[in-house]
Amino acid sequence: MARVPPDVSKRAEQLREQINQANYAYYALDAPQISDAEYDRLFRELQQLESDYPALVTDDSPTQRVGSAPLSGFETVQHATPMLSLNNAFDEEEIIAFDRRIKEALGESDEIEYAVEPKFDGLAVSLSYDSGALVLGATRGDGYAGEDVTTNLRTIRAIPLRLPKGAPNTLEVRGEVLMLRRDFEKLNEEQAARGEKVFANPRNAAAGSLRQLDSRITATRHLAFFAYGIGTASGGRVPEDAHSRQLDYLQSMLFPVANQRDVVHGVDGLLEYYQGIGEQRSSLPYDIDGVVYKLNSLRAQRELGFVSRAPRFALAHKFPAQEEITEVLDIDVQVGRTGALTPVARLAPVRVGGVTVTNATLHNEDEVRRKDVRIGDYVIVRRAGDVIPEVVAVVIERRPKKTRKFVMPTKCPVCRSAVERLEGEAVARCTAGLYCPAQRKQALWHFASRRAMDIEGLGEKLIDQLVENEMVENPADLYELTAEKLAGLDRMADKSAANVVAAISASKKTSLERFIYALGIRNVGEQTAKDLAAHFGELEALMQVDEETLQGVSDIGPVVAGSVHGFFAEPHNRKVIKRLVANGVHWDKVKKTAVRSSALAGKIFVLTGTLPNMTRDEAKQRIESLGGKVSGSVSKKTDYVVAGDKPGSKLDKAQQLGVAVLDEPALLELIGS
Ligand code: IVH
Repeated sequence: MARVPPDVSKRAEQLREQINQANYAYYALDAPQISDAEYDRLFRELQQLESDYPALVTDDSPTQRVGSAPLSGFETVQHATPMLSLNNAFDEEEIIAFDRRIKEALGESDEIEYAVEPKFDGLAVSLSYDSGALVLGATRGDGYAGEDVTTNLRTIRAIPLRLPKGAPNTLEVRGEVLMLRRDFEKLNEEQAARGEKVFANPRNAAAGSLRQLDSRITATRHLAFFAYGIGTASGGRVPEDAHSRQLDYLQSMLFPVANQRDVVHGVDGLLEYYQGIGEQRSSLPYDIDGVVYKLNSLRAQRELGFVSRAPRFALAHKFPAQEEITEVLDIDVQVGRTGALTPVARLAPVRVGGVTVTNATLHNEDEVRRKDVRIGDYVIVRRAGDVIPEVVAVVIERRPKKTRKFVMPTKCPVCRSAVERLEGEAVARCTAGLYCPAQRKQALWHFASRRAMDIEGLGEKLIDQLVENEMVENPADLYELTAEKLAGLDRMADKSAANVVAAISASKKTSLERFIYALGIRNVGEQTAKDLAAHFGELEALMQVDEETLQGVSDIGPVVAGSVHGFFAEPHNRKVIKRLVANGVHWDKVKKTAVRSSALAGKIFVLTGTLPNMTRDEAKQRIESLGGKVSGSVSKKTDYVVAGDKPGSKLDKAQQLGVAVLDEPALLELIGS
């Protein structure tokens, strides 16, 4: 074998160090330090060195994480000490009782010290190190014996293959394998694009990936790992006094450990922690299903011991489940403000995340097909935070013999007008526009909503009645309502009728941006309405403008320009606006921002690398002052990538997509200075 020159072996060591550090930053700190492209470059350089000098290859090199030929099955391994489970608690009383039991058992009157950490929603594994090298990795199995998944675990970049200097002779680390949400979403997109199975949640994706007999597949799946405890250890300086110190120690041995861990005192400390993590839950990069409380003193832990299969000294305080299984009673179609037809699953009521859910969105026809949701199916429903509940997946094992497939109606379920689905669009729409009562109701509701005309008391129920009794057809009609007319409606006392009329009247004084937003032009949200108001200053000008000029307004692209122009070109819409103004709707004139029209108007720039003579902020300001837009990532929509020194992956992407690349002189020339 070729002798390895010292500078080559030094470079290989350097590369390994950099790659390991990058893995640690990405998985343990959730603070990536280098781009994917840079990572790949380092990795390929190391691979090249190792292929030129095979003597360089070591078992713990990051290049050895690629997996190997498939196994015919996993071997069974006995755990040195059992991997037990945790008792679960769901409410405060159970936490108070847990703390009381511990105090009694220890004969303590002072507040107890607890180590607290997130409860990861993944799979438990055990990692055994001998003389610093990873020698065995196993799943939890039944707690006493699991499966040998060493080759698969070796592909996980967050798991150290070799421990740093000073590691114990033997060390068994326990923790959870999981998939970060961003990796889960990417995986599902790729699976769907290949026509392969999509996973219901990151946990299932992690489980499916870890139990691959072909570890080369596991290697492509970007699994993550967090350590939460030590099984056994010998030799070295493993702390023996407190769990929290063991976690710190594991971190010093390069294991990812939850940053959100803490040490707290007494029941109040526990509950405060629970609440704090609950608030962070949706912004964590991975799923958790609760928090874990552990008596911090390891001596006291031993004193308390176990009951059957769970420790007395620890407890999982679970969050209300964000996913439940329930039956699909029917699939209806809802018509939205812009006529979009959305299939909605009517569900047998089920409590998810603390509220009762009876409907869940199925988004669109393609989604129903992709997930193959049928009437009669049992499905997983998810409700995360304030988002609309959605159907995640069908529980195929529970599919009854008789189910009914969903068919998208060809006529609007509300007004019977034709439904159309344009090529390339996922959404089918009712073509009737405001002649469709469903769209009319939604349009009125939007018009009256708080961020639009802000008409208090004009809620959904009242709008339904107004439309159904043909008292109101469009927003202008609202301003011709009287208390007498309203008083005839259901649940409408004289007093409330007068209040509604007063609220409608009060809404007449508004601002141009609110008015534009209230019109409900497709693709025009609050920000776009603001931009349009600031740019044109008055409604007349906006109503006259052509599509090309619209596209010159900062942040307005061809799609929005098309919608805006189309809306004002419609005589019916112009008539309604005229009547609104005649009925007294008014606003103060807006001071126009400088008219931007230059070569840069509407053009999208991405900056990367260091420019020789200006900072990125300066470049950004100059581009924006001339009507250009600066975006953070390169896509097909990007017009120019401005690249300086050390440009990074954005330049690669630009070249891939054929986007024009400028250096500083070329940029200066473009902006004419
Ligand atoms: S400690 C003796 N800490 O929860 C119990 N477990 O029900 C040792 N889990 O199988 C477990 N996050 O997979 C512990 N921070 C954490 C955890 C955690 C998730 C899982 C683990 C275990 C299950 C116990």
